[in-house]
Amino acid sequence: MTFAQAKARHAELAEEIRKHDYAYYVEAQPLISDFEYDKLYRELLDLEKLFPELAAPDSPTQRVSERPMTEFKPSVHLAPMMSLDNTYSQDEVRQFVERVRKKLEKEGLAKEAERIDWCVEPKIDGVAINLRYEDGLFTVGATRGDGTAGDDITANLKTIRSIPLRLKGTRALPRLLEVRGEVYMTKEGFRKLNEERAAAGEELFANPRNSAAGSLKQLDPRIVAKRKLDIVLYGLGKVEGRQAPQTQVELLQWLKSLGFKAPEKYWHCRSTNELLRAIDELDEVREKFSYETDGAVIKLNSIPLRDRVGATAKAPSWGIAYKYAPEQAETKLKSIAVQVGRTGALTPVAELEPVFLAGTTVKRATLHNEDQIRRLDARVGDQVVIQKAGEIIPEVVRVVTSKRTGGEKGFRFPKECPECGSKVSKGAAAEGEAAVWRCPNPDCPAQIRGRIEHWCSRGAMDIEGGGEVLVAQLVKIGLVRDVSDLYRLKLAELANLERMGEKSARNFLDGVVASKSRDMWRVLYGLGILHVGTGVAKTLGRSFPDLDAVLSASLDQLTETEDVGEVIADSIVQWYGDPRNRRLIERLRQAGINFKSSLYSPKAAAGPFAGQTFVLTGTLSSMTREEATAKIEALGGKVSSSVSKKTDYVLAGEEAGSKLEKAQKLGVKIIDEKEFLKMIKGA
Ligand code: IVH
Repeated sequence: MTFAQAKARHAELAEEIRKHDYAYYVEAQPLISDFEYDKLYRELLDLEKLFPELAAPDSPTQRVSERPMTEFKPSVHLAPMMSLDNTYSQDEVRQFVERVRKKLEKEGLAKEAERIDWCVEPKIDGVAINLRYEDGLFTVGATRGDGTAGDDITANLKTIRSIPLRLKGTRALPRLLEVRGEVYMTKEGFRKLNEERAAAGEELFANPRNSAAGSLKQLDPRIVAKRKLDIVLYGLGKVEGRQAPQTQVELLQWLKSLGFKAPEKYWHCRSTNELLRAIDELDEVREKFSYETDGAVIKLNSIPLRDRVGATAKAPSWGIAYKYAPEQAETKLKSIAVQVGRTGALTPVAELEPVFLAGTTVKRATLHNEDQIRRLDARVGDQVVIQKAGEIIPEVVRVVTSKRTGGEKGFRFPKECPECGSKVSKGAAAEGEAAVWRCPNPDCPAQIRGRIEHWCSRGAMDIEGGGEVLVAQLVKIGLVRDVSDLYRLKLAELANLERMGEKSARNFLDGVVASKSRDMWRVLYGLGILHVGTGVAKTLGRSFPDLDAVLSASLDQLTETEDVGEVIADSIVQWYGDPRNRRLIERLRQAGINFKSSLYSPKAAAGPFAGQTFVLTGTLSSMTREEATAKIEALGGKVSSSVSKKTDYVLAGEEAGSKLEKAQKLGVKIIDEKEFLKMIKGA
């Protein structure tokens, strides 16, 4: 294929894929199957491997950059990004309308004041974002920051597939455009993410907004790409080279025509009553939206009139956010229990007088951690307000101090583990996570129970019957101390347990035996290594032939695996560094647990460079590093960032540095550019 042919086909494919991305991610109406889509995408990738210069920044393949950032650079918005005043009261909405009307009259715009109209939109509970397009191409995306400048998070935003990398259509595109919107995590994505984090022993996000904000702060776009983020656009920063829309309703339609996702429902209102009705209607339908909403945003529809209405120091006066009160209930805090999790983390839980809230009877609510108890000044016996926001477990949000009788008792967070009495210590599971108290004793019965329940759970070894009740008994009478003991249990021992007949004992044992042949990723996940959730376990299952290979891999080898960063790699190496864990692995081997991975497939087994790892260092004269990488990968090889004994070739260009030295030390074969070109030619 000539370059010209490839270029033409590339343009055709990119256009086709853009069309399908829009149908799938913006309109939620796919036109083709995933299989057909993948075929188009793969063809595009193959062309770019052959001719790397085709991989322009707006190519559909350029959404996830491989390189993590070290920091976010500041980005100045072309027009300031403001926020809106909030209200919870319909009366204040009426007053707001009157204020705007009066202001217009005062400006000599009596006619306009009489004909005033509004746009009501959902207030999406996410993170405000600014997107800049130059000549139709997405160039910069940033957070609001202080309103004047925010963090440049372009690489992270590119991973959101409903953000067009190039504006739709060709006619009348603005030369310069800044649009504003809200990045959010879907309710479903949030639920799944927290499930995975719980399974990997990581701290949970409190709500979808925090998880969206936390995701956008990640320096590695590959992690961001995995989070279910999306965006809705609702505002304008700057337009040049085309007439700007004159009303909010027009703006929303224009945004749609440019390929953006705009609010799926909005109300064009011509009176205060219509406006208040719209707020109520939105409240009725918002539960069905894929994103969390916490209110309605009311905007003066006419954009030119907004300037005449003006602003206060904090916010423009032409709009207001009406917030729906979250569902709350008041009840008595009977006691505070401290739960010990599988990883030893201590979580305070409020035991409540049962109360009805948002459709269910609530008896317990989370108090999150010690700091939260202190912030709330929660005391046993207090009347407390609990709240359910979105789909999260209820939390205690406030103490009704006016109802204190004096008989309430302050709560001292235990300095010893409530299960085993060990002295607890405070620390964060990972950088950036809140510090929590932990029980350091791996023999703590609560941790043992947690580890065994986790091993038996459906996502791990899937042993039916291995739930809380049975596991608690097995641990209590000392029949099981670690998961390998499960494989030594006898029918007679089990049948004697409370609430356990011979039949259920037999079923459970059958399940235990069946679990011996589960795939390696389930075993790896079942071990409960911090940060190793099912996704990571499967990835490792694809890259390593068996459990021993994973556990004995070096940090470098682990981080060479797709999606495995330093934090995960470090956690695995540390886990296996503990002699107890090594002994556990031996006991599991003796019990006959399968360690082989059925997912394992040596990558690109077909190409002439298959199974070979290259490391690039220094500058090449005939091609960029990216081009060299593409060539190696196209021929079935792998490119790694660090030299280890497993490296096959170090390709050294001009001014090669420490990697060259390391290669010499380790005796890794070093090739220069000329040799490399010869290898490619011969391949
Ligand atoms: S318009 C001048 N529209 O809520 C500010 N904001 O309280 C114009 N938000 O900072 C903002 N949904 O982060 C607007 N449909 C919507 C919104 C929305 C969510 C957020 C946004 C803003 C805050 C305003």
